[in-house]
Amino acid sequence: VRTSRVLVAAGLAAGVLASVGAAAAPAGPGPRYTAGADGAGDAYFPLAGNGGYDVTHYDLDIDYVPPVATVPPTPLSQIRGRLDGVATIDLVARQDLDRFNLDLRGMTVSGLAINGKRATGIEPPADGVEVEGAAYWQVQDDANRRWELTVQPRPKLKAGQPARVVVTYGGETSRPTDIEGALYGWVTTRDGAMVVSEPEGSMTWYPVNDHQRDKASYSFEITVPAGKTAVANGLPAGEPVTADGETTWSWEAPDQQASYLTTASVGDFVRRPVTTSASGVPILDFVDAKITGNALANTNTNLALQARMIDFFESRFGPYPFNSYGSIVDNDSVGYALETQTRPVYSGQASQGTVAHELAHQWLGNAVSPDTWQHIWLNEGWATYASWLWAEENGGTTAQQAFASWYAPARTAAYWALPIGDPGPLGLFATQVYNRGAGTLHALRVKVGDQAFFAATREWLETYDDSTGTTDDFIAVFEEESGQDLSAFFHTWLFAPEKPTTW
Ligand code: ARG
Ligand code: ZN
Repeated sequence: VRTSRVLVAAGLAAGVLASVGAAAAPAGPGPRYTAGADGAGDAYFPLAGNGGYDVTHYDLDIDYVPPVATVPPTPLSQIRGRLDGVATIDLVARQDLDRFNLDLRGMTVSGLAINGKRATGIEPPADGVEVEGAAYWQVQDDANRRWELTVQPRPKLKAGQPARVVVTYGGETSRPTDIEGALYGWVTTRDGAMVVSEPEGSMTWYPVNDHQRDKASYSFEITVPAGKTAVANGLPAGEPVTADGETTWSWEAPDQQASYLTTASVGDFVRRPVTTSASGVPILDFVDAKITGNALANTNTNLALQARMIDFFESRFGPYPFNSYGSIVDNDSVGYALETQTRPVYSGQASQGTVAHELAHQWLGNAVSPDTWQHIWLNEGWATYASWLWAEENGGTTAQQAFASWYAPARTAAYWALPIGDPGPLGLFATQVYNRGAGTLHALRVKVGDQAFFAATREWLETYDDSTGTTDDFIAVFEEESGQDLSAFFHTWLFAPEKPTTW
């Protein structure tokens, strides 16, 4: 589903087209079938996501076999798992579609049906060459990071028309990397998989419109060797079912969710007892059985704080936005934690600051996502600032002290030169995006006052809930709420290539 604003616009457009179509001939043009775009329109990742349709729901039925242990152990770079999936994708055409794309990387499609009609798998046709009948083809161009699955529906789809696409696919899994070289996507581990896909790594494990502009709900059925645990987003749909040496774990994630926030991590996990926030949010945690000693003690202490953290963030940000929460702590590492929706994934152990950070992302990043990746500071600045607020609430350093210890030290010109409001695709997770982002929010709070700051924050979260927003949208909400012109402030803090000295 597109963001609500776009949905309204698209609905109007579809309505207009429908009424034109219904008028007596020859009142207007008939359908004009074209190809959906091969990207969602994000300058940082031009081929992430696609145009021409909105997904409403993904149903992912995945069989996964982790690597077989060998003596001596295979190097991590060479371990392989096996993934076989059937993805049932419900979508609505947003233009008259001759063909459209999904994103899929490193997996081979063996069958595809659209609205129950089987399509033929073919080699990519040369430009301008007409293809007969329902068909699909794949481009897997690693050198140019171009991974597209094209679907040619027959009959063609009219704007507003719903369609169900069933894709049967599979392949060996490895350890994919993003443009920076960081592990992401379906990261094969010795005992399972860590699945963390920011910004566009979901295409490594299912066919997807891989951009947050097209959020959708999800269902999962993940089948793994008996004894393994598979944890996805949302709540279990019944107990796991074991037969013939395999266990199927079913999960339901009914809330709107960006593709980078899906997970279906697999490992030797132990469930912690379920707790709830004061407001009744169930908290389901899974900790790798191999985590022991201090790492386990710290992890347990910090996960036990999640209920109180939800209570605290609800008092600042409004109701928790989803049906459940809880963490996956894997003994393996991708080098970072990710705020996967309702169920963050941690590498090795969960520190208190990181637990607060990933929880705050559920409001700031997940319920309201950056409209394009340029606006990443809205995620990372906010989650970092929220961890400052939590530290203060829990009797640690105050937000003012955290701001001062970030702001006071001398730093290089290169540090201050990065415009966090437009950090570039290689700067998405630069430290400046996190701590200058948090500093920006604290300076903003000092400038407009606590009352306007928290009122505007709630307004931002309510207005863009289940959707996406830009930095300009954010500024507009704060200007409206504070009655101040904030353009110079935000220019200085987000874009000036030097240390901000005014606020
Ligand atoms: N969003 C994650 C966090 O806030 C960080 C993701 C880092 N991703 C990466 N590919 N380096 O903790
Ligand atoms: Zn973060």
